[in-house]
Parts: sequence; structure tokens; C-alpha cells
Amino acid sequence: MSEPRLLKYRHSPSWDIDAYVKNGGYQALQTCVTTLTQNEIITQVKQAGLRGRGGAAFPTWLKFDKVLNHETTEHHFVCNAGEHEPGTFKDRHLLRTNPHQIIEGCAIAAYAVNATTASVYINNDYAEEIGIFRKALALAKDGGYLRRTVFGSDADLNIEVFVGAGSYVAGEETAMLESMQGRPAIPRQKPPFYPTEFGLHGKPTLVNNVETISNLPHIIQHGAAWFSSVGTAKNPGTMLFSLSGAVNRPGVYELSLGTPLKTLIDEYGNGIPGGHEVKAVFPGGPSFAMLPGTQLDVPLDTEALKQAGSGLGSAGVIVIDDQTCMIDTMLHFMRFFQRESCGQCPPCRLGTINLKSGIHKIHSGKGSERDIDTLIELCRFAKGQGYCTLVTGASVLLESSIRYFRNEYEAHIHGAPCTLRPYSPATSHAVEIVDQAQTGTA
Ligand SMILES: Cc1cc2nc3c(=O)[nH]c(=O)nc-3n(C[C@H](O)[C@H](O)[C@H](O)COP(=O)(O)O)c2cc1C
Repeated sequence: MSEPRLLKYRHSPSWDIDAYVKNGGYQALQTCVTTLTQNEIITQVKQAGLRGRGGAAFPTWLKFDKVLNHETTEHHFVCNAGEHEPGTFKDRHLLRTNPHQIIEGCAIAAYAVNATTASVYINNDYAEEIGIFRKALALAKDGGYLRRTVFGSDADLNIEVFVGAGSYVAGEETAMLESMQGRPAIPRQKPPFYPTEFGLHGKPTLVNNVETISNLPHIIQHGAAWFSSVGTAKNPGTMLFSLSGAVNRPGVYELSLGTPLKTLIDEYGNGIPGGHEVKAVFPGGPSFAMLPGTQLDVPLDTEALKQAGSGLGSAGVIVIDDQTCMIDTMLHFMRFFQRESCGQCPPCRLGTINLKSGIHKIHSGKGSERDIDTLIELCRFAKGQGYCTLVTGASVLLESSIRYFRNEYEAHIHGAPCTLRPYSPATSHAVEIVDQAQTGTA
């Protein structure tokens, strides 16, 4: 097991800039500004093989390159800390424990793509973390660490904090950009597909997740070979896993990509409360298919999870034990998707309502076998529809629950009294974050 990298730094208070600098902080930024060309920075990111940690695992260097070399000269950079998905809380942990790592990463990214503005878009529920981040930002500015970080000029980089629009969809990059421009936080019609082409104010914009950005100072400081010395060939480096649900020790854990799911649950999460069994796991949060408890040997990386029929997403791993009712679990998540659909695309607006109603009917004992098939048809119809992936996520999750646990659906339909516990969402955003160093598994 590799050493934590993004979670290694620990100082209290976390905004203490002297402690960060004593640990080698802001040296990577200095190296970029004084000795590397922008293309050299991008080459290092390419050689490292860093992929986005916000859900799509897109090669980070490619976005950098598209923005830097776009024919339009006005460029922007936005760091995405929207983080509104249930069971995902690793960006919050990074904001709280190491804000300077994010600031340094933002300055490197903005410098590398020749951005004239840099912003960090933060979940509106994260009031404490917004305060921490602002304190750290003021210290970085006052200490002169952002000086001369606008390419080709003597100007200081100004990193602006945007407080998020308070919805899941607002974290989708085009919805986020809309809300930053004072408009409703709803995804843009595609094409144009990417903010690298049409971003903030219609200009080429680099959008990266907080964790993606936090890796940049380390890649510059220690090199691409060091970065890719852990992980797998296609998924180099480490990833932060937000582990929640039925585990003894929920928390944020940094593991090499490719670590088996079982290791995360048993060694880091310390197993299942009461010694119960795993019924299912959402390895990539609620917007990907779940896996049954028989598939815990799967490596946690994008390709392996795709092959297993699921996905890594932003690594919000939710564990469901065998004491929990799958139908109630699905009702909880279908309510979430219905509530969070922004409503602009009819297949998503109506699809999420119908998925919720169908599962509610079965949950309340009024369903029939035909309703299960109708739900499957609806899932297949809704997949791939809409300007963003919200209804696709809801559909693949629900369909996977029927695939693996149809017996529970049938039991509810045939009137057997459900002896299982309802789903408890207690450990999602509100989770008390375990310090990896104290688990003895770091
Ligand atoms: C419904 C929805 C919500 C999303 N929420 C977030 C979020 O909170 N944070 C995030 O970084 N990416 C989120 N994304 C993904 C972003 O659109 C985008 O791919 C990501 O910020 C790019 O950063 P990366 O390349 O560093 O992963 C979301 C996507 C969708 C469809």
C-alpha cells in the first residue's frame, strides 16, 4: 500500500502558510513560474497520466492543451468543489485539511493555460471550509505566493471564491459556469460539448475537480515517474475514497488506484458493523450501477469497474449490508434524483418522477411483476437522455438493483412482510471524517 500523498500534510490550523512552506509548499509553483514553459508543465502532467477525479476520468493534460492552444486568447480556469453527490465528501476534506495544496494547484493550472481569471466554486453547505479556504487564500496573497503567476506579466493571480448554487446538477461543469454568470444552474445544451471550447463567458475554460488540482504541485515537485509509480498503467496515482454506509469506520481514505474494493471495506473501513455481510456496494456513488457483495475482489480503477458493469465516478463508495432493504434503498435514491433533476429535459424530468413512482408503488406493497418490467423498460429508455447524465445515473443504478436483487422486488410484490431495515443515509455529507493516519493502515 502506498503512502498518502494528498492527505500526508497535517498541520493545525490548516491555513498556516509557514508550516505549508516549511513542508516544501509553493516550491512547485515557483518552479513553474521561473523555470518551466507552459508546454513543459503540460508535458509533465501528460507523462504522469493524471486523469480527472471529478467523475469522468478524462486525461487532464488534454484539457490543459486544448485551452492553452485555443485560437481565442481569453482563457479562464475554474476549480470545481461543488461536491453535492450523496456519499462524496473528499473535496470537503481537502478544503478543510490542506487549502494551500488547492491554492497552489489552482495557480499552477491557471498559469499553465494562460488563464486571466481563476475561481473556486464551493458547495454552499461547506461554510466552515469556505472560511478556511478564504483565510488560506488571504495568507497566500499577502505572503506574495501568487505574485507573477499570471503568465507573461508581473500581476498577482486573483483566485475568486464562488459559493455554489446548492444543487447536485450545479456541479455539472456547464451548469456551474451558467450559475457563475448569474443564470440558473442548469446544464447547457450540447454541442458545444466542452468548456475547453465554450466555457465561462463563452471563452475556453479549464474546469478541474479539487482533487485533480491538488495533485499538480506533487507532479511538478516530484516528477511524472514518481506520480505513476503507484496505481495501474491506465490509472496511475492515488485516489481519495469517501467511504460511507454500513462500515465500522467511514472516512476519506487515499489508496493507490487498483486497490481491491475488499481492502477498502475490510482494512480501512474495518468491516461491517455487527459482523454482517455486504449486500451491495455503489463503488462510484449513486450515479453508477451497484455491485453485489460477491464482487468485492474488483480493483478500484476506471477500467476494471467498467468491465464489472459499474464505474469509479468520484469514488464515493457506499456500502449496503445484508440487513438493509434494497427496495427502501432505491426509494431513497430515486427520491434524490427526482428532487435534483433541474427539469429542463423532459426525459429526465418525467423519467425521474416515474422511476420514483414505480419504486414507491412496489415499496408500498401495491406493485405487480409487470411493474418490475416497466421499471426496466423505463431505465433503458431514459439512459443517455438529457443534457447531463443525471437520469442516466438514476437508471443504471435502479436497473442494477433489479438485476442483482429481483428476489427482493418479488418479495415486496407478493406481500411478504419486509423484515429488513430501512436505508439510513446517516453517513454521507455529515460523516465524521476518520483520520487515515489513526487507522494504522496508512
Ligand atoms: C450531475 C453532475 C454533477 C457533477 N458534480 C460535480 C462536482 O460536484 N464536482 C466535480 O468536480 N465534478 C462534478 N461533475 C463532473 C463535472 O461536470 C466535470 O466533469 C469535472 O468537474 C471535471 O473535472 P476533472 O476533469 O478534474 O474530473 C458532475 C457531473 C454531473 C453530470
